[in-house]
This record gives sequence, structure tokens and C-alpha cells, in this order.
Amino acid sequence: MMRIDTGVDEVAANWTPGSWREHEGLQMPEYRDAAALAAAEKQLSSYPPLVFAGESRALQAELAKVQRGEAFLLQGGDCAESFAEFHPNNIRDTFRVLLQMAVVLTFASKLPIVKVGRMAGQFAKPRSAPTEVINGVELDSYRGDIINDIAFTPEGRDPDPQRMVQAYNQSAATLNLLRAFAQGGYANLHQIHRWTLDFMGRSPWAEKFSKTADRIGEALDFMAACGISADTVPQLRTTSFYTSHEALLLPYEQSLTRQDSLTGGWYDTSAHMLWIGDRTRFEGSAHVEYLRGIGNPIGLKCGPSLEPDALLRLLDVLNPGRIEGRITLITRYGYDKIEAGLPKLVRAVMREGHPVLWSCDPMHGNVVKAANGYKTRPFERILAEVRGFFAVHRAEGSFGGGIHAEMTGQNVTECTGGAIAITDEGLADRYHTHCDPRLNAAQSLELAFLLAEMLNDELAERRKAAA
Ligand code: PEP
Ligand code: CO
Repeated sequence: MMRIDTGVDEVAANWTPGSWREHEGLQMPEYRDAAALAAAEKQLSSYPPLVFAGESRALQAELAKVQRGEAFLLQGGDCAESFAEFHPNNIRDTFRVLLQMAVVLTFASKLPIVKVGRMAGQFAKPRSAPTEVINGVELDSYRGDIINDIAFTPEGRDPDPQRMVQAYNQSAATLNLLRAFAQGGYANLHQIHRWTLDFMGRSPWAEKFSKTADRIGEALDFMAACGISADTVPQLRTTSFYTSHEALLLPYEQSLTRQDSLTGGWYDTSAHMLWIGDRTRFEGSAHVEYLRGIGNPIGLKCGPSLEPDALLRLLDVLNPGRIEGRITLITRYGYDKIEAGLPKLVRAVMREGHPVLWSCDPMHGNVVKAANGYKTRPFERILAEVRGFFAVHRAEGSFGGGIHAEMTGQNVTECTGGAIAITDEGLADRYHTHCDPRLNAAQSLELAFLLAEMLNDELAERRKAAA
């Protein structure tokens, strides 16, 4: 049964923005100064929302279309945003690569692409160990710039609540720029040739993009001759772009939780979409408790340890009303585990009739350590997981509707492989990430082209099956 949207949000039973505090909360820092924490929370609670509830509902409606196979989700951006790399050029470049990827995917599949950035709030990181030891010195692990500093000093690693305020301010400025790019003319399809990134010149995919851009340009000229242009049709000069991050640092998320005056529902106004990480999505967790009560669309990372029954119980808790577009299941198995692990989840969810969007994170199950110590992800394994994802959904009769990538518009060398083959030795050249290795601009574009082919095959199969 799907709920009809009546325009009034029901408030979840026994839930308050702070009810997560009665549950087991992992991966959050222990602030040593309780008064400083309370002061930062109070400060943030009085600040303006970053996004509006109505925008989150608009995203949810778009995600519902993806679930029905009428659109595709592209979610991407930094593993961790940082205070040091905060610069308009970095924001522009990542936005631009996402636009390029979306154009490639739309052009090939003829489906609208729902664009969601891991941007304007993606700061907090779960870690595999609470502390780190270097040369016999043990300090707190780095948990993202919203919590502590990457510098390995006692002061740096001490969690500082004022960092939440700085992260809020950086998110506000980032979002402001993203809104201007999306609405103010930069995303105008007539500008498509200008989106080319200079250093992509050496990649064969840059040339392929330029050819796609030529064909789109021709189509636009033809439409203009028919009286349809960016002056008359706003969709040609603007685009919608949404923000998302992992809802990990719950004092921050709670401080930005507001009741929508239109519907009475509670929303996390720190981003349009929030997700729960693989390490915090267990039953009864503080993170599940917090997210069950907010009206935003939510993502759930699904790794190899998630059993079908546990997933079904989580879905009953997170989406008891079975609202379409509310839940995105982001699977992240690893290239060699997806085909064995994913089918049982898909079957269970289909059997119970829970409406979900299946999205593929081909990044987090494919981390390897290069011989020289760098944490990297081989491009072939990333592609192999995407291939496995589509193969499973084709076999099960479900729709593989999204991709979730850690990427940047910068010319970094963090993932190996790709058309401009980055080698293990080459990783040292421009390895800048504060956390996990990201696809660079050329690798991201290459992924989009190869993904577009796979998506087309999937759509052709679906049409055949429906005929
Ligand atoms: C992430 O998306 O950055 C992340 C930590 O993922 P996961 O929870 O899937 O490990
Ligand atoms: Co990551």
C-alpha cells in the first residue's frame, strides 16, 4: 500500500528531534567541554535553515519517479569536504563535472537525471578505529573537519564544537553558490561547450563529450528555429540541484531540525537528503531513531553484513507509511561480492512490496592499499561493481536507478586506472583527499559514458520485458 500525499505530515510516534539521545550512538565524538557543546547547539538552533521542507519534498517526488523507472539518480561529490579546500573554483568544478555526467546520461538514456551533491554539508566521517597511533603516540582519529583537525597533534584531534558553526557557515556559502550556478545561467544548455575542463584535454572522453555537446547544440539550434529556446523554456537555462550528506553528527543535525509550518512535519534543514552510513544503520541505533522522524528523503547504506530480515525491519521503522521516494538503498558490496550478496536483499524487498530506489555505490567496497601505502580504488573494480549491480537488477526484475560516487572536479590522482591510466606510483602526484580516494574529473566523465551504455542496455531489456 502506498500513502497518498495529503499535504499534511504525520509526526512519527514517540519521536522528538532529540529522542536519538536515548539510543546507542556510535561514531560520534565525546566532547570534553559540555558547556561549549551546549553553546554551539544553541547557536545553530537559532540560525536560518539551509534548505526548505518544500525542496526536500520536491526531491522526494523526483526520487519517486526514479523508483518507477522514469528517471535516474546521480549522487556524487567529496568523501569529506574540508575547511582547507573551501574555494569557489573547487565548488564550480565539482558542480560542472556533475552537470557533464548528467548530460551524458540524459543524452544516452533519454531519462531525466536527478542531481544530488555530496556537497554543502558532507563533513563528518565514520572511522574504523576510534584512535590512531603514530610513533607510539595515541590520539583521537580524525573524524572530519566538522569535528576535529586532520593535523596529528593533541589540540588538533580534540573535538571542538565550534567547528559545527564553521561547517554550517561553509555549507551556507557553498549552497548559495550552487543555487546561483543552477539557477543563474551557468547551467544553461547553450553553455555546454564552456563546461569543458582544461586539463581533461588528454582524455579521449573529453573529445567524446565535445561531440555530444555538438549534437546537443544542433538540437538546440533546431528547437530555437521552431521557437523553443532558453528564453521561452526555463528548463533549458536552469537545472535543479540538491544537496546531501551522511547524517552522522547528530547534535549538528538536531540543531538544524525544524517543524515545517505548512505541514507540521519535522525536517532536517541541513540538506535535502540525508543518509545513514553502513556502520550506524543497525537496529535501535541513535541514527535510525533520528532519521525515522524527519520528512526528508533518506538513504541507507547497505553493505555485505546487512541481512534481508534486518533490512525489512529497518524499512518498517524508517518508512512505515511506505511513502514512494522516501527510501534510497545505496548498496556498496565490493566488485567481487555484489552478485552473491545483493539478490537476497532485492528479493526480500520486492516480496514485501516496500517502495525503494536502488542505487549503486561502487566506491566503498573497493578500497585497496597500494604497495606504496596509498589507499586507492582501482577504476576497473569500480566499473565491475556497477556492471554487477545492473546484472543483479536485470536478473531480479528490479530497476537499478542510481549511482553514488566519490568524485571531484579537480585533477587529483587518488583512484588508479581509467583512460589516462593512473598507476600506483602516480598516486603520489596529487593525492589530496581528506579521507577516501575520489574519482578525478576525467575518470568521472569516463564512468558516466560507460554507465550510460549499461543503463541503455537495462532500459532496452525493460522495454522488451514490458512488450
Ligand atoms: C561514505 O559514504 O563516505 C561512507 C563512509 O560510506 P559507508 O557508510 O557506506 O561506508
Ligand atoms: Co567515503
